[in-house]
Amino acid sequence: MTRESWQTRLGFILAAVGSAVGLGNLWRFPWMTSENGGAAFLLVYLGVVLLVGVPGLLAEFVIGRRSGRNPVGALSSLSDSKAWSAFGHVFVVTAIVLLSFYSVVGGWILRYVGASVTGAYFANPGGYFDAVNYGLEAAGFHLLFLGITALIVLRGVKRGIESATKVMMPAIVVLLVALAVWGVTLDGAGEGLTFLLSPDFAALEANFFDILPVAAGQALFTLSLGAGTMLTYASYLGEDRSLAADGTAIAVLNTFVGVLAGVVVFPIMFALVGEVGDGGPGALFVGLASAFASLPYGQLVGTVFFGVVALAALSSSISMLEIPVSFLVDEYGVSRPTATAGLVGVFAVTGSVCALDPGVFDLVASTIVDLLLTGGLVGFLLFAGWVLGRDAVAEYELGAGAFASRFGTPWLYAAGVFIPVFLIFTFVSGLAGALGVSVASTELLGVTFSQTRVFVVVSVLVALASFLGLRRADSVI
Ligand code: TRP
Repeated sequence: MTRESWQTRLGFILAAVGSAVGLGNLWRFPWMTSENGGAAFLLVYLGVVLLVGVPGLLAEFVIGRRSGRNPVGALSSLSDSKAWSAFGHVFVVTAIVLLSFYSVVGGWILRYVGASVTGAYFANPGGYFDAVNYGLEAAGFHLLFLGITALIVLRGVKRGIESATKVMMPAIVVLLVALAVWGVTLDGAGEGLTFLLSPDFAALEANFFDILPVAAGQALFTLSLGAGTMLTYASYLGEDRSLAADGTAIAVLNTFVGVLAGVVVFPIMFALVGEVGDGGPGALFVGLASAFASLPYGQLVGTVFFGVVALAALSSSISMLEIPVSFLVDEYGVSRPTATAGLVGVFAVTGSVCALDPGVFDLVASTIVDLLLTGGLVGFLLFAGWVLGRDAVAEYELGAGAFASRFGTPWLYAAGVFIPVFLIFTFVSGLAGALGVSVASTELLGVTFSQTRVFVVVSVLVALASFLGLRRADSVI
């Protein structure tokens, strides 16, 4: 059977934006932002999206389009190495971990669409969330969300994913803009915008090392990087067109929706609830739900809002399911329906564990995912930089045009050297943070250095040294 490909260029872009725009923008972003200092966090996050996200996206695109396979098949066919092929399996695991907690949250969202119509949470938003977030019913709604996801994936790349996201993405943007326009006109909305948009630089410097790994993890999560989603989507590209242009468009659109979501969420919370709430996975549900509860047209606004979130979540969950589906189809010749059905069986179990145990859920949804995605992206970047080397630049240049082609070689240096150095650093500090080890201040020869400066100086030196080294060994890169 011939492998499927996207119908149109726009179809690919919308599917990729659909993957990127999701709970990461609408649920995880407000959660992470409110826990990590608001605007300061936003700034670090935007920096990482630009400097790490776009080049990372290109690494996945190049590997995917060149191989025309799923992550495992791509790494093994392009390298002919058992070790890379084994490493590829990490992405199948990552996809399973991701969708397991993602579809639990997707289930909460579906439930909240219904509960907004009836106003079920209006009397006591906090109590309602506590009653429905974990347990058997949560597991049931997770299955519902998983089922809808599977129905789309089952229909294939063109008829399923492409045709669904072509309708969903415009709807999401139009409805969010409408909500944002309405939100900023509320009394007291200004405070929310200030929280989101005016950074406190002193706090930023003091907490830089706590913020950085979280912001990096969030940037990768929101761009669907490090799991092989973007690689898999690019493997369905039938013709050669500018990956750089497509990647930039995807990152810009995703960031636009992310900030737009912040402009919807924070003003509404500040205007109607007076604060950002207690953070945590419930930030959106409790905080916003209380806001809707106090509005004249709360039921309508709530339904529209959670409806948008449900669409965004679905257009992302299909991209997660597509990773192991394409793996089974490409590598084992399993039919798409059989692969999808088998995987639904797996996710029914793994997702239910997350739905039943808040402890597992929390660990999986933040720390484990951040670490897996960071490690995964480092793998793709090193693969592009060191295994493909010049071939990666050649692939990048196909269809790129004269202007974008100039960035091929600098991109490869960034992918092979600078960005992995940065990501390994954030990986280590994220791990240290998760294990409760402090990396607070550095004392050298009796002098205490501000960690920010030490970090900047050390990374610039390491990157420069390896850059010069690589330039000499021209055969490698
Ligand atoms: N980016 C999506 C969001 O923001 C989630 C997502 C889809 C994802 N596919 C992924 C995250 C792959 C990491 C890796 O909700």
